[in-house]
Amino acid sequence: MSDQVLEKTSQKGGEARCPGEPTTQEIIANDKVKAPGWVCSENYEFMGDEDISSDRYIRADYAQKEYDNLWARTWQFACREEHIPEVGDYYVYDLGRYSFIVTRVADDKIQAYYNACLHRGTKLRPSNSEGYAEEFKCPFHGWSWNIDGSNKDVICEWDFPHVEKEKFGLPQVRVETLAGFVFINMDANAPSLEEYMGPEFMAHINSWGLENRYIALHVTKMIPANWKLNMEAFMEAYHVIETHPQVAVSNGDANSQYDTYGEHVNRFISTLGVISPHLRGQYTEQDILDQFTVGDSSVLAGADRKLAEGETARQRMADMLRSMFSAAADADLSGVSDSEILDCFSYTLFPNTFLFPGISLPMVYRFRPHPTDHRQSLYEVFFLRPVPQTGPRPDPASPIHLEPHQSFKEAEGMDPGFGDILDQDTENLLLQQQGLEASAKPGITLGNYQEIRIRHFEYAVDKYVAGK
Ligand code: FES
Ligand SMILES: [Fe+2]
Repeated sequence: MSDQVLEKTSQKGGEARCPGEPTTQEIIANDKVKAPGWVCSENYEFMGDEDISSDRYIRADYAQKEYDNLWARTWQFACREEHIPEVGDYYVYDLGRYSFIVTRVADDKIQAYYNACLHRGTKLRPSNSEGYAEEFKCPFHGWSWNIDGSNKDVICEWDFPHVEKEKFGLPQVRVETLAGFVFINMDANAPSLEEYMGPEFMAHINSWGLENRYIALHVTKMIPANWKLNMEAFMEAYHVIETHPQVAVSNGDANSQYDTYGEHVNRFISTLGVISPHLRGQYTEQDILDQFTVGDSSVLAGADRKLAEGETARQRMADMLRSMFSAAADADLSGVSDSEILDCFSYTLFPNTFLFPGISLPMVYRFRPHPTDHRQSLYEVFFLRPVPQTGPRPDPASPIHLEPHQSFKEAEGMDPGFGDILDQDTENLLLQQQGLEASAKPGITLGNYQEIRIRHFEYAVDKYVAGK
């Protein structure tokens, strides 16, 4: 038996790690500017190795159960506070057949209403709209509501003696804010947002200062795959060597770190500026540096890339990105660790949001099911840049809606290298959706470590769909 096989048989499920490689924590521990506790910690737990049923991806009746039991009971990122800075500003958040008007009703108060008239049901504001309102007036017969949700006017009131205006306020859903994000929940009995996210994650997000970021770019695209497949494409770095070979030269893919926190949050840390374990010995440190790209590689144009004797690509990248992002953001990043400057931190907040709190890849992803087709989902990418220290806060970017045939590179402001990566990720998804429908095998099989986020996520889906 080979050493590797021996090693494998003597280990319990989930204990094996990429053999012979530094771990993510070992790579980070060697950095010059040291990382904070939320980076230097691990929280992996083996959750079993059974297959995950494919019904969830391919059956319309499963999607219906999700609407009833999952979407109706979970906290969802509806908009950013910066979308509705003034009293009367509103933002319509749609989720399948559900639709909500999220409105600032006072400087420090946001409410959200089911977006439907209480007369004969017409949507009070169109889907995906936003703006400023002094009242919400129905376009059909003109009934209207104040922005605080109380009924303002019933046209021909004499004909509605059975309508008690004080009982005809717009039904509300719960609203909470966290780090500049506005979350809603339809379930009156759900735990608070803080309880839902759990204490470990709350400590992480409270140290990031995401409330001091603004939406610099917002791109949306309908993807021909179930929303969960769409999300899972971004939960592991296992696919990097096959799907993004151009990235692997400078990405610790197979030795990325995976963690879970409670029921609703998980993450990976994928180090950059280091060689993929798959390519060990095939490239020099200078090659790694020369082939390095990040989400905003344009900032590196013209930089000196000649490494000194003994200097590592990772350290040079951290130094270069620190000075370039400091200048771009008009911010002092001298105390920010090399890892936070450089690495890819990807957190999933159940059910449909990803946060990337790092500096080089400062994204938020949101995924929503297509309202009538469980085989499609809306993928949104936001780039959240630090608010400049001087001058007014920039307005949030308006969304750029890509057609299904368009490349992410066509979105103005998208870094071409990152656009390529997103194209590669999403091009797999039609084949995966179709393959699951064509398969003789009733479930998907997951790696114990590198795909733990998918198992963790799907176990939460199972729990909600079962009505627990
Ligand atoms: S449906 Fe809204 S006023 Fe009639
Ligand atoms: Fe990818």
